[in-house]
Amino acid sequence: MNPNYRAVASIYDHLMKSIDYKEWSEYLQDILIERDCKFTSALEFGAGTCKISENLSRKFTLFVATDLSLDMLLENKIQHNFVKVCCDMKKSSFNKKFEVLIAAFDTINYMLNRTELTDFFVNVKSLMNKNSVFLFDASLEKNSLKNTKRLNRKGKVGELAYTQKSFYDKENKIHYNNFEIISSNSVFEEKHVQKIFPLEQYFESIEDAGLVVLDCFDCFSFEDVDHQSERAQFVVGK
Ligand SMILES: C[S@@+](CC[C@H](N)C(=O)[O-])C[C@H]1O[C@@H](n2cnc3c(N)ncnc32)[C@H](O)[C@@H]1O
Repeated sequence: MNPNYRAVASIYDHLMKSIDYKEWSEYLQDILIERDCKFTSALEFGAGTCKISENLSRKFTLFVATDLSLDMLLENKIQHNFVKVCCDMKKSSFNKKFEVLIAAFDTINYMLNRTELTDFFVNVKSLMNKNSVFLFDASLEKNSLKNTKRLNRKGKVGELAYTQKSFYDKENKIHYNNFEIISSNSVFEEKHVQKIFPLEQYFESIEDAGLVVLDCFDCFSFEDVDHQSERAQFVVGK
């Protein structure tokens, strides 16, 4: 069982309240339209509380939202038309190929070393057919350097009080987010660790896995990524 995204699941939507998931989903949809993709089957890795799934699933015949954290998947309680599966994105096996695969909003940054990253891409490849497209974004060092300060925060969500402490270890390229969540009778702690790979590492691991980078955008645009980008949006094919 994943020790993370258990207690945080109950405050996650509050933490992300400034994120426009509708707009984010439209951006992903635009990339798929641009590439003439078929809106048949899709699988999302690290779907979390399923905000992207919620927006995109209605465009597809079949949409599978997956996450390692059951608590995150269960947090989404609205009536939906997608399937939820609790599984590890490095090992998930489905007896099916998907036209579209997605990992959104830093999910890939939970791959903590090159082996995990390449294993993940190898797994993605096993779920693709020759025309499938895999969309993922990666948080880059500029994002950690620019935005860490505002991630040091405290708040209340209903009866829960929380503290988030965010720290970027520049030497080891690791971003830490430590949460303390206090309810009336318990204190929960979670330490989230994310690897901030240089862009080049993604290109290398994608190639090692036998996949190809079709596009790499400065996220939320159709401009090429560069070393000023805070987030990269990859479009990967087989
Ligand atoms: C930053 S959240 C993003 C959630 C969601 N994609 C969104 O847009 O809000 C990262 C998600 O990745 C999931 N995750 C981390 N490691 C994972 C793994 N090995 N397999 C599957 N999901 C994982 C976490 O449980 C969490 O829900």
